[in-house]
Amino acid sequence: MRKWIVAGNWKMHNNIAESIALAKAIKEGASDFKGGTIVLAPPFTALFSVSEAIKGSNVLLAAQNMYYEDKGAFTGEISPVMLKDIGCSYVIIGHSERRKYFHEQDNDVNLKVKKALTVGLTPIMCVGETDEEREKGVTQDVVDKQVRQGLSSVDKIDDVVIAYEPVWAIGTGKVATPAQAQDVHAFIRGILKDLYGSTANDIRILYGGSVTKDNIGDLIAMEDIDGALVGGASLKADGFLGIIENISGKK
Ligand code: PGA
Repeated sequence: MRKWIVAGNWKMHNNIAESIALAKAIKEGASDFKGGTIVLAPPFTALFSVSEAIKGSNVLLAAQNMYYEDKGAFTGEISPVMLKDIGCSYVIIGHSERRKYFHEQDNDVNLKVKKALTVGLTPIMCVGETDEEREKGVTQDVVDKQVRQGLSSVDKIDDVVIAYEPVWAIGTGKVATPAQAQDVHAFIRGILKDLYGSTANDIRILYGGSVTKDNIGDLIAMEDIDGALVGGASLKADGFLGIIENISGKK
């Protein structure tokens, strides 16, 4: 049985004081919601403070990115070992903003996913098509390539979370319809079945892209949608807790 998961991606928002205040408010509200997983991904500079703020609660910590080496001369990069050390248990990998602005390729995503697993971090691997790709009718081709290459020679698949985030829905207020999202989620689960057999039924696939507490109810009702990766609406405690409230107990 797959259990729900909600992850808040704060992106490049919140200084340390703001991060602590938001994490504490979420931690307080989150104690009512058991049975699933709640994850916060603050910017690197606030990881330590948020880690301290959520100690002893049911809220877990994620990083928004990592490098695929343990240590070394890689100026400006952060290693997965450092992320474990600071209290992370999850890491977002291959977000479309990383792909678009920082030119991450499926091969980088694959190296990061494999590395995260070796140090015991759960990767949330993001995939999704652009507006143009959807219009051209190549959504499945794009997602197929991203999933297969991102997971190339990954065998610990039970520890991987996939996030389907159509790029045209991210930060635009243009959420995918439940049917559009379910179509791609079912397609992704089909690829996972092809690669991993029945284990695919245990893998959590999150939807991301303009999720709010008002639209999540219809999305989570879909068979292959197991939770949400939330950007904008994760920056206010009541909005984020509203999403969790509408998801918890549904899966
Ligand atoms: P959004 O971002 O909820 O603001 O659309 C989602 C994401 O980028 O993960």
